[in-house]
Amino acid sequence: MKKILAIYYSQSGQLKQIIDNFCEPLINAGFNVEKVQVKLKNDFAFPWTTKRFFSVMPDCVLSVTHELESFQLKESSYDLIILGYQPWFLSPSIPFNSLIHNSVFKSVLKNTPVITITGVRNMWVNAFEKIKPMLKDAQARHVGTVALYDRHLNLVSIFTIFHWMLTARKDRYLRFFPLPGVAEADIENTKNIGKLVLPYLEKNEWNGLQEEFIKVKAVDPKYHLMFIEGKAGIMFKLWAKLISKKQNKGSWLAVFKYYLLIALFIAAPLVWVINMLVFKPFLSNHIKKKKAALLKLN
Ligand SMILES: Cc1cc2nc3c(=O)[nH]c(=O)nc-3n(C[C@H](O)[C@H](O)[C@H](O)COP(=O)(O)O)c2cc1C
Repeated sequence: MKKILAIYYSQSGQLKQIIDNFCEPLINAGFNVEKVQVKLKNDFAFPWTTKRFFSVMPDCVLSVTHELESFQLKESSYDLIILGYQPWFLSPSIPFNSLIHNSVFKSVLKNTPVITITGVRNMWVNAFEKIKPMLKDAQARHVGTVALYDRHLNLVSIFTIFHWMLTARKDRYLRFFPLPGVAEADIENTKNIGKLVLPYLEKNEWNGLQEEFIKVKAVDPKYHLMFIEGKAGIMFKLWAKLISKKQNKGSWLAVFKYYLLIALFIAAPLVWVINMLVFKPFLSNHIKKKKAALLKLN
C-alpha cells in the first residue's frame, strides 16, 4: 500500500481546499493519504490588521523560522509528499519556511518524490525559486509543481486580497469587485490535476509528470509578473535588511507600506505596458528560456 503525505499551512482555508481537491482522486483510487495541517505555536490571527500584515515582511524575506506547534507523522517514510506553500511578500510564508526547516519533516523529505502546490494572488515565482534549493538541500526529489492563482488583473486583485485578508471575508469588496483569491472553478479543477498523478504513483516512475502539469497549464508563469517579481524581490531584500536592523521598526514598516503601494500602482502597470509593447513581440525566445529554467526541477 503506497503512503502519501499531504502537508501544508493554511490561514483562510484556501490552500486546504486546493490540497483536498488535489488528493481526492488519489483517495478514490484507494491510496492512503495522510493529511497534516501545520500551525505556528504563536499563530498569526486571521483576519490581519494592516500593521500586523506588513510587520511580517522582514521575517518572510529573510527566511526567519518561527516555532511550529508540535505535530506527529504516522510514518517515517512516504512514497509521495504533496507539499503546500503560500508566498508572503514574494517569499515562502513564515509557517512554510518553519516547516521545511523542521528536522522531523526534513527526515521524511529525504529521497522522497515531492509535488509542490500553491494557491496565490498571482506572484509565486520568487517564493518557488527559493523553495527549489530548499528541497534539494533536504535531498527530496522534486517531481512536479502546481500553481493556482487569481486570474483577475493585478491591480484588481490588490484591492480584493486586502479586503479578504483584512476582514477574513472571501466576498466581493464593495459588492463591485470580483471575488478574491483563486476561483472556485480552478480549485474544483485541481481534482483533474490530481488525477494526472495516478499512473506515476502506481509505477513509482516520475519522469514526465512536470511536463504533463505544464501541458495542462497546472503551472503557467506569466512573464510580466515574473519580471516585476524579479525586480521587487531585490527591493524587498534591501528593505527587509534595513528594517530588521532598526529600533523603530513600526515607522520604517509604514514607509515600506507606501513604497509598496507606489510600486504596485505605478511601477507594476508601467511594466505591464512595456511587456505588451516590447517583451511579448520581440523577446519570445528569451521568455521561453526563462520559463523553462523556472519550471525545471532538480
Ligand atoms: C502576509 C501575506 C503576504 C502575501 N504575499 C503574497 C505575495 O507576495 N504574492 C501572492 O501572490 N500572494 C500573497 N499573499 C496571498 C497568499 O499567498 C495566499 O494566497 C493567501 O494568504 C491565502 O492562502 P491561505 O490558504 O494560506 O489562507 C499574501 C498573503 C499574506 C497573508
